[in-house]
Amino acid sequence: MSAASSHHLLRNQIADIPISQLAAKVNTPFYVYDEQKIIERINDLKAFDVVRYAQKACSNLAILDICRRNGAVVDAVSTGEILRAEAVGFSASGDPSPIVYTADIFDLSSLELVLDRGIHTNCGSPDMLTQLGQKAPGRSITLRINPGFGHGHNQKTNTGGSQSKHGIWHSELTDCLRIAEKYNLRVTGLHMHIGSGTDLEHLAQVVTAMEQAAREVGSSLDTISAGGGLPIPYQTEESYVDLEAYFQLWDAARKRLESQFGHSLRLEIEPGRYLVAEAGFLVAEIRAIKKMDKNWFYLVDAGFNDLARPILYGSHHPMTIYRRSAEKTNGLREVIVGGPLCESGDIFTQKEGGFVCTRSLPEAQLGDLLIIECAGAYGAVMGSNYNSKPLAAELLVRDGQVFTIRERQTFAQMTAAEHIPD
Ligand code: LLP
Repeated sequence: MSAASSHHLLRNQIADIPISQLAAKVNTPFYVYDEQKIIERINDLKAFDVVRYAQKACSNLAILDICRRNGAVVDAVSTGEILRAEAVGFSASGDPSPIVYTADIFDLSSLELVLDRGIHTNCGSPDMLTQLGQKAPGRSITLRINPGFGHGHNQKTNTGGSQSKHGIWHSELTDCLRIAEKYNLRVTGLHMHIGSGTDLEHLAQVVTAMEQAAREVGSSLDTISAGGGLPIPYQTEESYVDLEAYFQLWDAARKRLESQFGHSLRLEIEPGRYLVAEAGFLVAEIRAIKKMDKNWFYLVDAGFNDLARPILYGSHHPMTIYRRSAEKTNGLREVIVGGPLCESGDIFTQKEGGFVCTRSLPEAQLGDLLIIECAGAYGAVMGSNYNSKPLAAELLVRDGQVFTIRERQTFAQMTAAEHIPD
């Protein structure tokens, strides 16, 4: 049963560790991840030849290390993500490429790094081909194709269609093959990622689009990538994609292409959310409980500086309470949950467009903990220092033991790069 469907309103442990033990380790707010869950999720996808973790979802070095030790490779979208991958021991080259740089532009530092280390690049614009080809003719590359349609859990996470900046427009593929030829770049991979948090219906359309594009490129291809996008159930009525059915669609297309090309093709998948979302929890403390007219508010010490998904997309996260107070109450209360930031939108219970809504939670006391679930993907990584709040600590539960995998940022670290001119 998923975390979302087992929507307990009171929680006493996370990954078999009593919450009191976690809260004794670091002050709130903090993230905690369950290693076992990440490993299970990687293994769920083992039918695909390559599981390439989209580390933008949660790029803490310890999480990348778990992926490496469990047979996943990584996608990197920036210089920083390449350096993170290298820091945990992914080598720059190999077969399959342990690190692939996927982007729509090269900034100067990423171009330098990709050139220097020989990192395989998944090009999302014709200009990237030219810029790489001018400096490193002869390389193998992947083309990221925008198939002309996209779909995500939110318009902001839809990465296909003509309003999206991502990928090479499908009808420009032939032109790009010409650019590649000019610079002697060998197109060995094709990649499509139509959006994040999509569904089987839309993902299935990608298979057809990929097959068509792959036929256009021809037998230089050795890899096709299905991209990421697999949803997880944040709400009880949501569900997972049928992974077996999804794999079969891709496998059938791959086999048809293999028989046309006369050689084998590697099938990659590039999930972010699916691997880490349900493994992560954001734990905050209830610091104020107040009533505004008829509305009850629980104000906690985590804000959108810690978890931006509700304010950005109106995302729903399951929430539970851990009761630290001695006083026992059994009732439920319809509450609005907000954070500490000096901005009205700092509300965890909101719908897309900023419409505040309520959540049915147990009657809590000051000092009780609020646990925001399914927060492992696009949680800590999207944290900021708004209102000069430090980045939260991150913990990992491994084999029943708790490790600090990032300490809470200090004021000195937060201001270390700032200078007052004389
Ligand atoms: N590959 C590419 C090229 C991507 O752009 C992304 C996500 C992924 C893979 C992984 O997608 P996933 O499997 O996680 O759906 N901040 C948003 C999500 C943004 C996703 C950006 N790209 C959120 O919190 O929902």
